[in-house]
Amino acid sequence: MNVRNCIKPLATLALSLTVAFGSAAWAGDGGKANIVIVATGGTIAGTAGSATQTVGYTAAKVGVDRLIEAVPDLKNIANVKGEQLFQVASESITDEHWLKLGKRVNALLAQDDVDGVVITHGTDTMEETAYFLNLVVKSNKPVVLTGSMRPSTAISADGPMNILNAVTVASSKEAYGKGVMIALNDKIGGARDISKTNAVSLDTFKGLDFGYMGLVVNGEAKFYQASTKKHTVDTEFDISKLDKLPAVDIAYAQANANNIAANAFAAAGDMGIVLAGPGDGSTAVVVDEGLAALRKKGIFIVRSSRTGSGPTMRNGESDDDKLDFVVSDTLNPQKARILLQLALTKTHDTKQIQRMFYTY
Ligand code: SIN
Repeated sequence: MNVRNCIKPLATLALSLTVAFGSAAWAGDGGKANIVIVATGGTIAGTAGSATQTVGYTAAKVGVDRLIEAVPDLKNIANVKGEQLFQVASESITDEHWLKLGKRVNALLAQDDVDGVVITHGTDTMEETAYFLNLVVKSNKPVVLTGSMRPSTAISADGPMNILNAVTVASSKEAYGKGVMIALNDKIGGARDISKTNAVSLDTFKGLDFGYMGLVVNGEAKFYQASTKKHTVDTEFDISKLDKLPAVDIAYAQANANNIAANAFAAAGDMGIVLAGPGDGSTAVVVDEGLAALRKKGIFIVRSSRTGSGPTMRNGESDDDKLDFVVSDTLNPQKARILLQLALTKTHDTKQIQRMFYTY
């Protein structure tokens, strides 16, 4: 690069550093990290009729500025800037929200004056958004999702501490390169391996198979382990030119099993169906036959387990090789759905899709 070409980027960088944040060093390098909090709604931004109401409140009411104001200690950890991207309860998050969020996070992390991103989000589908981002973010900078189980108006609301902890994690040098994380209730979990396990408890996010990556204690992010699965810069997925994702839905199986849901999804035009099967993704004879018939029509089938933990093994409960099914390994149905959607943007070869399920 000649001198003329490098003056502009340097000048732009210097300007953005002073205007936006003042400095761009990592917290561990003696300065404060520059963290953008992207708010999307959820209970953390929820309000209730009284301080004791913790169920049946209205999610997604409070704006990002008020979330930040409620935690004055943030300024001791990082230079924090807020951005309100959406204001929704997370059960209403759509594929379109994910694409918008993924593109925005990629744009923010490409800026030299942004060291990490915290996303406030409802807990109901937080693990799904986190896993989607884990597959499509193209940066090693930390991305940390957080939320709360109690609305902002509740006694002992958990949102402020969760935001503080999430910013602490995002500002930590050790978080670099670890993929997308969830920081909630003093724990740090990897997007692939952590899930919401309880409808109302504060201690709802657990990694039932592989545990947590770390803890936040006394304002310090402490890491103990990381997934060996590929993520972020090491995935083959690119959403930069996508404006929608392939349609994939989850067919939940039960005793007295049938194919009503799977057939309806196929009739609605789905490209893929994830079976949330009992046990290790087992298929009643009628389901095996029904899914085999759909596969012959070109619909992609992934077998997964509705139990919440443990692997679905290839050729275990079904003759996957013969029927041309894919197994989800240890991904739960809601995360298997996301990986199948992204896989279908790259290939229609089930061997390749199975490879992706073992890789990510
Ligand atoms: C939501 O997911 O938006 C509502 C529930 C929550 O945030 O805990």
